[in-house]
Amino acid sequence: MSHAELSRRKFLQYTAFGAMASTLPGLGWTEERSINKNPDKNFKPDVELELYAQPAEIPILNGAKTHVFQYTGKLLKGPADSIKTLPGYLGPILNFQRGQKVRIFFYNTISEPVITHWHGLHVPQKMDGHPMYEIYNGERYVYEFEIDNPAGTYWYHSHTHDMTATQVYQGLAGLITVRDHEEQKLNLPADDYEIPLVIQDRQFTAGNQLQYLHGMHRRMIGFLGDTILVNGQVNHMIPVKTRAYRLRLLNGSNSRIYKLGWTDGTPLTVIGTDGGLLEKPETRPYVILAPAERIELWMDFTGREIDSELTLQSLAYKGVGTHMGGMGGMGHGRGRMMGGALAQGKSFPIVKFRITEKVSDSPSLPSKLVNMKRLGTSDLTSPEKTVPIAISMRHMSFQLNGRTFKMYDHLDVERIPVNTIQKIRIFHDGGMGGGRHGGGMGGGMGGGRGMGMMGMMRSIPHPIHLHGQQFQILSRKQTKGSSAYDTVKDGFIDSGWKDTVLVMPGEEIEIIKPFHDFTGLFLYHCHNLEHEDMGMMRNFEVY
Ligand code: C2O
Ligand code: CU
Ligand code: CU
Repeated sequence: MSHAELSRRKFLQYTAFGAMASTLPGLGWTEERSINKNPDKNFKPDVELELYAQPAEIPILNGAKTHVFQYTGKLLKGPADSIKTLPGYLGPILNFQRGQKVRIFFYNTISEPVITHWHGLHVPQKMDGHPMYEIYNGERYVYEFEIDNPAGTYWYHSHTHDMTATQVYQGLAGLITVRDHEEQKLNLPADDYEIPLVIQDRQFTAGNQLQYLHGMHRRMIGFLGDTILVNGQVNHMIPVKTRAYRLRLLNGSNSRIYKLGWTDGTPLTVIGTDGGLLEKPETRPYVILAPAERIELWMDFTGREIDSELTLQSLAYKGVGTHMGGMGGMGHGRGRMMGGALAQGKSFPIVKFRITEKVSDSPSLPSKLVNMKRLGTSDLTSPEKTVPIAISMRHMSFQLNGRTFKMYDHLDVERIPVNTIQKIRIFHDGGMGGGRHGGGMGGGMGGGRGMGMMGMMRSIPHPIHLHGQQFQILSRKQTKGSSAYDTVKDGFIDSGWKDTVLVMPGEEIEIIKPFHDFTGLFLYHCHNLEHEDMGMMRNFEVY
């Protein structure tokens, strides 16, 4: 980051007059902002709403309220259930139907620039919340798009340049549901029997305020907090009846990866992934949920005793570089645990369900869910071509295709003709042997003990997210193979539509992705939000 940009960021963080920043010299892209201020008269919305990003004081822990940023909404037009406000700090759940035209007046009333992204939705560049469109305090951005995704669980969050991690951390996120006719026919549990579970980890000061991480080394791991929040609340207990439920889970954490399992060993029945329902339910002993990923679970409490409890927990797993040994100036000789009390890969409870009522009737799990067009190599527009997403390291940061993020920048390999279907290979450049760009940090800092900086960096997993249309996973190859990998390998649901895929150390993943309908710049990035803000993000130019 240039000095001017850095001081601009600082300036924006500490002043209430964000708009003044545009008068600072040498700001490059900010002068080129072409924000969508006004509605299009020819666009006839089925749903119209106002969404505000605003400061708020929310009770989360006992005692003092917590200062957060919060999305709040107001429905102007459309079905009454289009907006559902939740207790806690999360934004309202936005409930859409496939085919609906949606207009959102987005207002920024916080003292930092903000832009909002509709994660997982297939919308034009101008409606996608690219950071080039950030708006300042007092400004508004008008979003207009048609819901063109299948029924599923999506979400929205801030996507501000260099500030996505801190803004999402402070609360700027919310869930989106999409429904469609095909889903309706399945009669899945609905209303009281459909439960959203947004999982996030946070760290609080003694005064109940959100505490963010400090220091470069911790940013490289990403933020890991010791307090687990579900739907913005602590120690969440959900009363349920002895019947089946549909659970919509989102990992809304900055960096934490969950290995979800039920305390009594009940397997997880997965019915949906990031981009909609599966063809048929899949049963797993546990499911890995990386930042930004969603899964939908079918959970049947039939036959359980009144007052009995069942906890959804994160199970222990390995291979995610949370220990660093002998770091000059940091390590205290014996290797230091990153993530404070709750390192990545530790086990802890997430949310408790208590059986409060017996009922005699429950829907049963459909054996077939939806029709899904399976994409294969025969669908590729140019079968001989593979688009690379190479993960590498340089100095103290991660890169994609050898570069860090620049607002409008894209390489030749990042140019993609519109209305094509592409194969994309996501891999570690230089593998485990230390990347081409890898040198420089290891020796001086390693100090000979533990993993050292390079080893630690190489063992960090990356949840890679692509904007635009959902993709499918063609293959997953573990080049390293280890007992650590064995602790996570049965938890990946690779059969459904995805917009985020966790790339473990030593792993190479091929995906197939359509780039239909819209030209322009579409981001792809690591959804470890600290990595994203450090520049682990690039543009695809669809032309
Ligand atoms: Cu959920 Cu580009 O992000
Ligand atoms: Cu996204
Ligand atoms: Cu990453």
